[in-house]
Amino acid sequence: MVDLTVDGAARGPSVYLETFGCQMNELDSELVRGHLKALGYGFIDDRDAADIVLFNTCSVRAQAENKVLSRIGRLRVEKQEGRSLIIGVIGCLAEREGESMLKRLPEVDLLCGPGELDRLPMLLDNVLKGVAVEMADRAALQGSTSRRSATLSAAEDSLELLDLSRAFEPEAASSGGRSAYVRITRGCNKFCTYCVVPNTRGAEVHRPPDAIVDECRALADKGVIEVTLLGQTVNHYLYVHGAAVDAGGAEVPQVGPGLAALRKGAGGWAGRRVTTFAHLLERIHDEVPEIQRLRFVTSYPRDFGDDVLDVMARCERICRYLHVPAQSGSDRILGLMNRGYTVGQYLEFVDRVLDRLPDASIAGDIIVGFPTETEDDFQETVDLVRRVPFKNNFIFKYSPRPGTTAIKRLPDDVPEALKRSRCNELLAIQAQVSAQVHAGQVGREVPVFVEKVTDVEPTSGGGGGVILGWEQNQAAKGAVQCSGRTPGDLITVFDAPSQASGEALVGKIISVFVESSAPRLLRGRMVACPSKVSLG
Ligand code: SAH
Ligand code: SF4
Ligand code: F3S
Repeated sequence: MVDLTVDGAARGPSVYLETFGCQMNELDSELVRGHLKALGYGFIDDRDAADIVLFNTCSVRAQAENKVLSRIGRLRVEKQEGRSLIIGVIGCLAEREGESMLKRLPEVDLLCGPGELDRLPMLLDNVLKGVAVEMADRAALQGSTSRRSATLSAAEDSLELLDLSRAFEPEAASSGGRSAYVRITRGCNKFCTYCVVPNTRGAEVHRPPDAIVDECRALADKGVIEVTLLGQTVNHYLYVHGAAVDAGGAEVPQVGPGLAALRKGAGGWAGRRVTTFAHLLERIHDEVPEIQRLRFVTSYPRDFGDDVLDVMARCERICRYLHVPAQSGSDRILGLMNRGYTVGQYLEFVDRVLDRLPDASIAGDIIVGFPTETEDDFQETVDLVRRVPFKNNFIFKYSPRPGTTAIKRLPDDVPEALKRSRCNELLAIQAQVSAQVHAGQVGREVPVFVEKVTDVEPTSGGGGGVILGWEQNQAAKGAVQCSGRTPGDLITVFDAPSQASGEALVGKIISVFVESSAPRLLRGRMVACPSKVSLG
């Protein structure tokens, strides 16, 4: 049992929370932190001093899981040696493994899936009070229930309350508290054959547009100038008004109407008002003008209408940046992945984007070594990467995931060494493509949202970094290096005259003249830009 007294007086439990995985998890961690803080929990950065260690986990690849499991292994030893500690596993791994994890890893005290995070305080309370006797007292998981019906369970409605009760803390947020995530859609209905996300995050559920706009408004009121909208396939966002309301008549989250309805457009909803992704973007842009940068991830290469591109073209504060994973350049592999598009359709989409938004920046994800991938299939992926001006691609080696269709139907037959060599080959080609994209910015003046003062001096070659000590850096240059991003998400570094002036720029948008480039970054000098700098 954790002792929660100091000199006989009660104290709040201290929590160490570590987050793995995607932006969705980062947002979940922020919400969990806010929720628990409001209940008297304290958050600390020192894992060794915490009463409670929470891991917000990712299950997308085996490697992501292994990282957490080794952390848990270390804490198991400490517990065996007598440390009183509560270990909680929350997020996608908890959901994927389910209650069997509590049996397999007895040092884990509680499990909470990403769809049940509003119940985390109850679980913690049970464990702290020592009343967690039954599994159900220590585990909150959706199981497969969320897939059974088209109506929302009560759990999902209360999950919405967690988003609605968001207490954004600028001090705890990145980029000087000026950047924030806003969820528009939970879950995923796509079922790509390799992917655990539909199992761990459940069915696609869209939040009411008013709730989203209100959240953006509230964030802007707290000083946020960059908002990134989150969903697994953001362009599938669709809200049918009047279809889901609570007892008081207020709109509530709604299960996705399905792709067929989406493809029919508003025509599929005779007489009903709908909010599409394009409408939603436009509303946020127009109704919350304080948001200087509106971004969204992740886009799906199908069902991305011209309506969205037109809104992006019209609204200057929507970043012309698309993260739109291709996954493979082989139609045969795309078919086995159940992606629902061909390489030709992907390229048509890219053409459509660049036609309307010539300065758009495109990023993606690729999986190499998917079952049955031949050298020819892989070379088609290489061709795709050479053809599209990707500013970057995250390249992953296929990892068979329990519970997916691919693991059940397709043997993981590409040897690890071959996956690795394909991954390296593709990384090298992507580096060339990235270098070209970045070189295209040299000589331009770009607006940069400053994220941090950094003492990492990037090398001119590979985009890696040589870490210089702070004093050494100071002495070498007499200035500090700042880093930030362009609207197209290109990392940009420049010097500020002093530490104080660098820190004062964090969270602001300034103009930088790009003098040179590397495969993964731009280097430039600050151009005086008082009107933007004085923001806030
Ligand atoms: N919803 C997003 C992706 C979410 S997962 C989309 O569809 O684009 C993030 C990325 O992880 C995926 O784009 C994919 O490239 C990679 N990924 C997912 N499952 C994987 C697996 N089993 N093995 C390797 N990479 C995987
Ligand atoms: Fe996974 Fe596919 Fe859904 Fe993306 S769209 S989360 S890859 S199932
Ligand atoms: Fe990982 Fe879950 Fe995100 S599996 S990528 S944390 S949705």
